[in-house]
Amino acid sequence: MRVVTVVGNRPQFVKAAAVSRRLRERHEELLVHTGQHYDDEMSRVFFEELALPGADRELGVGSASAPVQTARMLEALETVLADARPDLVMVYGDTNSTLAGALAGAQLQAPVAHVEAGMRSFDRAMPEELNRVLTDHASALLLCSTETAASNLKHEGITEGVRIVGDAMADVLLEMAPVARDRSRALEEHGAEPGSYILATAHRAGNVDAPERLSALVDLLIALPGPVVFPVHPRTRARLASTGLGARLEAAESVRTTPPLGYLDLIALAASARAIATDSGGLQKEAYLLGVPCLTLRDRTEWVETVDAGWNTLVDLSVDDALRALEREPPATHPELYGGGHAGERICAEIDAFAAAAATA
Ligand code: UD1
Repeated sequence: MRVVTVVGNRPQFVKAAAVSRRLRERHEELLVHTGQHYDDEMSRVFFEELALPGADRELGVGSASAPVQTARMLEALETVLADARPDLVMVYGDTNSTLAGALAGAQLQAPVAHVEAGMRSFDRAMPEELNRVLTDHASALLLCSTETAASNLKHEGITEGVRIVGDAMADVLLEMAPVARDRSRALEEHGAEPGSYILATAHRAGNVDAPERLSALVDLLIALPGPVVFPVHPRTRARLASTGLGARLEAAESVRTTPPLGYLDLIALAASARAIATDSGGLQKEAYLLGVPCLTLRDRTEWVETVDAGWNTLVDLSVDDALRALEREPPATHPELYGGGHAGERICAEIDAFAAAAATA
């Protein structure tokens, strides 16, 4: 089968790393990079560290508002898909690149497979929520990380083509965590003693775009018991600079800001942290898999199992809630939630089955 995979930003490079090489053993894959993330530290480093096959097509779309960015991707994808005539279009997660890939595939009548289907925050103000819902409703094969995701789809009337396969990001984490511990020098570089610091990340539009929220985020980072290692996403860096709030953060002795980190450095820092404070969905899962308590800087999460298991606490931007959560002992139990590192295999098996069914149809 000919598969066109559309990726465009950091979390998608990680998820595709669990699938692409295996997929290519049995199918032809054309990897399309939309260019949503383009800096070396946001893109190239992930391809190198995770041995992801290089992109076969680069759309070079770059940064823009969501409608313009999605429109540019759609326009470029029309040509790519018309040329490649795929039997299946694969998309990952919930970003503008995901939606553009799904919509372009559906409009050109290629079936779409969505990895990480069915995740919901039930907050339509989140750009990612809109992307997820629309992508799922345009997809023929809905590859879910969890049972909750499959049940979310059922509530929206989607039952056909739904498969629970585990989580692709978990595969990569489980394989690469020991490599990160061996190879990364990030702890030394950032003066971080194992077990004594908090790793913090924040980039959600809902946390960094509105100055009042960004100001509350800065207050929270400063109030956390340090040291706090804070790799700064470019969106956040730009907002900190334009509001002048960056100066307050830089003046705080307990917070050590760093540029965005590659996969191995981030995982090495995550694995040895006392706790992780983040608004990233991926890092909430990674914290869980590494057995590190997580404070989620949002009032809800798609990864509800981590909260139910007691390892993740929704603190939004409340200093009091964050400090209280840090005082709690982590739970004694740690159930397996995300497929134990076999999602890539299961996704490829589902694609094989899809190809076999298409061949006999
Ligand atoms: C996007 C996704 C988000 C995902 C995140 C992972 C959407 C709606 N959002 O958010 O779900 O969690 O990626 O990181 O698709 N920029 C650079 N260099 C780059 C890329 C971006 O400097 O390589 C800057 C630009 O100023 C840009 C801003 O970061 O305007 C935001 O980038 P964008 O891709 O729009 O969204 P993210 O915030 O990265």
